[in-house]
Amino acid sequence: MKIVTSASDLPHGCAFVPTMGALHSGHQSLFSLAAEKSQKVLVSIFVNPLQFENYDDLAKYPRTPERDTQLAEEAGVTHLWLPRHEEIYPKGFAKLSAGPLGEMYEGAARPGHFDGVVTVVSRLFDLVRPRYAIFGEKDFQQLLLIRKIGSDVEIISAPTIRESDGLALSSRNARLDSDARARATVIARALYAAVAAPDHGSARSAMREVISTEPSFTLDYSQVIDEENFSDATEVTVNARAIIAGWLNGIRLIDNMAMKPRGQ
Ligand code: PAJ
Repeated sequence: MKIVTSASDLPHGCAFVPTMGALHSGHQSLFSLAAEKSQKVLVSIFVNPLQFENYDDLAKYPRTPERDTQLAEEAGVTHLWLPRHEEIYPKGFAKLSAGPLGEMYEGAARPGHFDGVVTVVSRLFDLVRPRYAIFGEKDFQQLLLIRKIGSDVEIISAPTIRESDGLALSSRNARLDSDARARATVIARALYAAVAAPDHGSARSAMREVISTEPSFTLDYSQVIDEENFSDATEVTVNARAIIAGWLNGIRLIDNMAMKPRGQ
């Protein structure tokens, strides 16, 4: 595996997986998908300051560089890129706007977050010019916004990797103590209840009911949305998704699951 420190050494036409490091098996599954698409698999690790609304969250973001290198190597990554801040954000760079979808749900809770995400991803795409880029469904709103950036990169989505008790893998899970870690299963339990419900209305109440059993989880939102635009799903919505976000011990956790497609 080649460690790339200068954008001039990037492989073009590759399968690209942008990350912020603190890698886990969820990220590794994206790397494996990338390896199925191309012989050149590029992973970037860049903790993007622009997508953090406050300094504290940025400072607390886990950083595990040695382990990241090992996990990337194990998963068949051919190029690991550790960009310098000035390379991504040269003086006077233009900040992009994620538009109205960027202000809903995660964007409402984290103002400016998605502007930071679309800005960094566009910039990374400009520098790399990949053929494919792989993103996780775990961050479903992010995935939709990246699809809307409108580049000629083929965007591939990857399913969410979970622990055996349903908790979606996340770099933030490392910040949960063992008590909070056990309580965190409430999110996946609520989503499974939603998916099993006969209609969207009962899915919404099933989620609220499960969540109410865990008072230490502070709910931000739970909803069943239309995958196309994040409007509330109706009974004629073809592809709907249950989404949840909230805080446990001050740590923000988000997750989502696809509802059964209509008519099945
Ligand atoms: P990061 O949180 O490091 O995630 C990198 C990629 O891994 C994203 O596409 C995310 O959806 C995916 N991912 C995270 N947890 C996953 C899981 N349990 N299963 C499957 N995929 C998972 O998302 C970002 O970084 C940043 O916003 C980024 C796109 C790199 C821009 O800075």
